[in-house]
Amino acid sequence: MNTKILSSGMYVPNQVVTNFDLEKIMETNDEWIQQRSGIKERRWVEPGIDTTLSMATVASKQALDRAHLNVDEIDMIIFGALVTDYVFPGTGVLLQESLGFSKTVPALDIRNQCSGFIYALSVADAWIRSGMYKKILIVGSEIHSTSIDKTTRGRDISVLFGDGAGAMIVEACADEKSKILSTVLHSEGKGSSVLCLKKPSSNDSPRIQISGDFDLELYPQMEGRLVFKNAVTRMSEAILEVCSNTNTSPDDIDFVIAHQANLRINQMVLDNLKIPHSKTHNTLQKYGNTTMATIPITFDEAVLEGKIQRGDLVALVAFGAGFTWGATLLRY
Ligand code: UT7
Repeated sequence: MNTKILSSGMYVPNQVVTNFDLEKIMETNDEWIQQRSGIKERRWVEPGIDTTLSMATVASKQALDRAHLNVDEIDMIIFGALVTDYVFPGTGVLLQESLGFSKTVPALDIRNQCSGFIYALSVADAWIRSGMYKKILIVGSEIHSTSIDKTTRGRDISVLFGDGAGAMIVEACADEKSKILSTVLHSEGKGSSVLCLKKPSSNDSPRIQISGDFDLELYPQMEGRLVFKNAVTRMSEAILEVCSNTNTSPDDIDFVIAHQANLRINQMVLDNLKIPHSKTHNTLQKYGNTTMATIPITFDEAVLEGKIQRGDLVALVAFGAGFTWGATLLRY
């Protein structure tokens, strides 16, 4: 059996936050943000309306509807998020409940940041090929706006990230025409403090102290230039690796869905591989970086807009905190 992508779905909150809106709350400007990252606006949740779970539920239902599937036809959930509704249990089981499963299907939560979707897809692919499950729902749902520093102090990070959810359903398929061909995964823990959110940590008891000065480690931190350089190198390498595993060349690739952190990163990756910029779709102008939700959101839009057709050779590639990175080459 091979693994075929059956459908996808997405959800972003209604509240649009433009670069001009950010100018009102921190020292930044539209020109800087667009030149350095390509981002024009992002979606931020409004308090009391969207949660990680509610966004995941809507994106999943859209993917189920598009595949004309009843929820009980799904055998397994893989869920990923940086900020979850509960510290524990993971949101996978909450999603199982909110989607109304009548069966006790397993729910696996993963935490692999921006490359989470590639990791999750590889797990789904391995299980499907082993014969263990037939249909797997993979969901990334991310709320960053509630945990970033929205002052000038945190502007290097806060202008980049947005909220949203993306879902994909994959299924076992005997057909050779549509299948995942190769996946590569990597990590390098020495990059762990280059992009991270350190608190609340296992060493804090109680986990959050509500007295004294605000602990800045409760905000994410990043050495942007180092992340940028590693992202360009590692995403280029990962695409070459899946090409080498399948005896293909970057010239053969019909379409690339790259993680959406920075337009310049993605353009440099394509230039390194001599892939024309017309062979990709970017959503970061509208949504910013939605970590694990980014690949399914961008894939979903590209399919809906007719940019990816059945039979196309598609590369998915991502790099993120950890560092973790990976790529998947598939015949859609
Ligand atoms: O999935 C992984 C997630 N993260 C990433 O991939 C991020 C990778 N890194 C990047 O995208 C870029 O490094 C950034 C967009 C974060 C920054 O762009 P840069 O060209 O590397 O700028 P920089 O960090 O070198 O900063 C240049 C200047 C600094 O001022 P000085 O020291 O030159 O006076 C910053 O303080 O820009 C300043 N700056 C800002 N100015 C206006 C930093 N953030 C902002 C801001 N608005 N939001």
